[in-house]
Amino acid sequence: MKIFVTRNIPVAGIEKLKASGYEVIISDKNDALTQGELIEQLKTLNPDAVLCLLTDKIDAAVFDAAPNAKIFANYAVGFDNIDLAEAKKRGVAITNTPGVLTEAVAEHAAALILAIGRRIVEADDFLRNDKYKGWDPMLLLGIELKGKTLGIVGCGRIGQRLAEIMKNGFGMKIIYNDQNRNESLETELAAEFHEIDSLLKEADVVSIHLPATEETAHLFNKDNLAKMKSSALLINTARGSIIDEAALVEALNKKTIASAALDVFEDETSVNRDLASLTNVVLTPHIASATLEAREQMSIIAADNIISVLNNQPPQNPVM
Ligand code: GLV
Ligand code: GLV
Repeated sequence: MKIFVTRNIPVAGIEKLKASGYEVIISDKNDALTQGELIEQLKTLNPDAVLCLLTDKIDAAVFDAAPNAKIFANYAVGFDNIDLAEAKKRGVAITNTPGVLTEAVAEHAAALILAIGRRIVEADDFLRNDKYKGWDPMLLLGIELKGKTLGIVGCGRIGQRLAEIMKNGFGMKIIYNDQNRNESLETELAAEFHEIDSLLKEADVVSIHLPATEETAHLFNKDNLAKMKSSALLINTARGSIIDEAALVEALNKKTIASAALDVFEDETSVNRDLASLTNVVLTPHIASATLEAREQMSIIAADNIISVLNNQPPQNPVM
C-alpha cells in the first residue's frame, strides 16, 4: 500500500510507516504544495493514505483526486484546513496529533508573554544597533507578572498547561473562558471562570487558545479589543483568523492595548506588513509547536493513525 506525505517531516513517523511495509512517497518540493500540485500528485500516485499538513487545503477536489485514500492524517492539532463534511460524505478518516505539542505550544506562549512583557526583542535590537551606551534607570522598562491576571481564552490542553506554568512559575492569577467549566483548574489553580467581556476587562495578559471556527473568526475585533486594558498584552499561538489584524494594528498604534505577540496570522503566506512595522509587537513564524520533541512525536502519531486505518482499525485520534 502507498502513502503520500505532502512535505518532508521528521523521520521517525516515516520509518514507522516503512517498517509496516508501506511504500512511502514524500513530496520532494522543498515548500508547501499548491492545491494544483497536490491534486496532480494525488491523481498520479493514487495513494491509500495521505499524511498532510496544516498548509494543505483538503477539500472536495482533493478528496476526489485520491479516491482510494482511507485516511488523511493531519500533521497538526488544528484541522481547520480540512473540509470535514466532505470527508464524512466519503467515509474518509481524518485525524490530528493532539497532546504531544501541548508542552511546546504552552512554552512558546509563555516565551511570548515574557518577550513582550520584558521587551526582549526591542532590547536585543537596541543593543545590536549600537544604541546601548551604558546603564540607564529608565531604559526599556517592562512589567512584572507576579500578581497580575492572565486571561486564557479557550482552555483546552494547551490553555490549561499555560495556566499551570504561569500560576506555578510566575504567581499569576488565572481567569479563563471556555465552552466548558474546568473544575480541576478551578480547584488546583484557583482559576476563575469569566464571561468573555469580563475576562477582557480584567486580564493584564490575554492568551488565545481556541480553534479556528466560524464562531471564533475575528472574535478579537475592534469592539472586543476596546474592552481590554490599555496596559494589556495579547498573545496568539492559536490561529490567525481569530484576530482582526487591521483592528489590532489600530489598537496597537493608538496604544489602547500595550503590546501583542503573534505566532499565527490571517494570511500566513504574506504577513501584514503593518504589524511588522510596530515596535510593540513580537512576531514568530508559526513555530509554537516547533520543538524537536513535539515534531518527532507528531510524525509518530500521524503514522500510527495511518497504520491503524490501513489495518481496518479505528484511528487513535479521529477529529469527527
Ligand atoms: C499548529 O498550528 C497545529 O495546529 O498543530
Ligand atoms: C489543543 O491541543 C488544546 O486542546 O488546547
